Amino acid sequence: MFDQIDIIQQEVNQFSSKELSEIENFRIAYLGKKGKITLLFQSFREVPVEHKKEFGQKLNILKNSASEKVNILKAEAVKSANKKSVIDYSLTAQPTNLGTRHPISIIKEQIINIFSQIGFSVSEGPEIEDDWHNFTALNFPEEHPARDMQDTFFINKEMALRTHTSSVQVRVMENEKPPIRTISPGRVYRNEAISARAHCFFHQVEGLYIDKDVSFADMKQTLLFFTKAMFGEHAKIRLRPSYFPFTEPSAELDVSCTICKGKGCNVCKYSGWLEIMGCGMVDPNVLENCNIDPKTYSGYAFGMGIERIAQLKYEVNDLRLYSENDLRFLRQFKSAY
Ligand code: PHE
Repeated sequence: MFDQIDIIQQEVNQFSSKELSEIENFRIAYLGKKGKITLLFQSFREVPVEHKKEFGQKLNILKNSASEKVNILKAEAVKSANKKSVIDYSLTAQPTNLGTRHPISIIKEQIINIFSQIGFSVSEGPEIEDDWHNFTALNFPEEHPARDMQDTFFINKEMALRTHTSSVQVRVMENEKPPIRTISPGRVYRNEAISARAHCFFHQVEGLYIDKDVSFADMKQTLLFFTKAMFGEHAKIRLRPSYFPFTEPSAELDVSCTICKGKGCNVCKYSGWLEIMGCGMVDPNVLENCNIDPKTYSGYAFGMGIERIAQLKYEVNDLRLYSENDLRFLRQFKSAY
C-alpha cells in the first residue's frame, strides 16, 4: 500500500503538459471518481490500525500535490493560449521593407510620360548592334573618330555595344512609314574610364519626329514643352550650334540653371545655363539610308542622357552612385514616384 503511494507520487511528479485536454485527462485518471488516488482512499479501511495515521497523512500529501499540479498546469496553459490569440492593436506596426524605384527608372518614366502626352510612342532595340545601325546609316564617315576603339566597345569588326539609341531610330525608320513620332529609351555603352563624371555605360532617351513639313521651330517648341514639364514653368531654353553626323543643322540645348534659376552659381559655372541634350534636323542622307524620301519628308531628332537629367533634378554629382546599388543612396528615393 505504502509502495503504491510512492509510485503514484512519482507519476504525479513526472507529469507535465501544456495541453488543457491532457491535464484534464490526468486529473480524471488520478483524482476523478475512479481515479488512482481516490481508489487508495477507499482502501483506507484495509490498512492495519497502527499504520492508519501514517497512511492517511501520506495519502493527503499525495492528493494535495496532485491537485496543486493540476491547478498550476491549467493556469499556465490558459495563459499561453491567451498570449497566442490576443492581438495588441496599440503596438507600433512592424516596418515592411518595400523596395524603391531606381532614380534612373523614375526619370525615364517621367520623360516617357511627358513625350507620350504629345503623341510620341516608345521603341526599343538591341544593345548589341551592328555597324550599319549604330554608325553607317547615321551618316558617320568611315574614318569618323566616334568609331574609334577609344569610344566604342567592339565585339568584332561588324558588331559593337551601341553607343547611342539613335540606332533604334534607324530600325524604326527602316520598318515604318512616316509620320513617325517615337522616343527610344535604353542603355548605351562607351569606352570611358569610370569616374564621378563619366561611366562606361549610361542611359539615354532619344527622340525622332518625321513627317511632311517638320521644321526647326517645331523641334524648338517640342523641346521647350519638355523642358518646362521636366524642370518647371520657370525653365528657359537656349540652342547653341553644334555638330552631329546625323543632323543638319545640329544644336546643343541648354536649360536655365535649375539651381540658381539663371543667376549664376558653381553648378552652372556662373553661366546660368546647363547643357542637357543634343538635337537637330535629320540629315537627308540618313532619311535616304532608311528609304524615306527627303524631298517629301523632313524631321528632327534629339537625344539626352537620363543620368544627366537625374543629376540636375536630384543634385547628385557623382555618376557612379547610379550603378553601385548602395542602399543608403537608393533608399533616399522612397518618396519619389
Ligand atoms: N545620339 C547623340 C548622342 O548620343 C544625341 C543626339 C541625338 C544628337 C539626336 C542629335 C540628335 O550624343
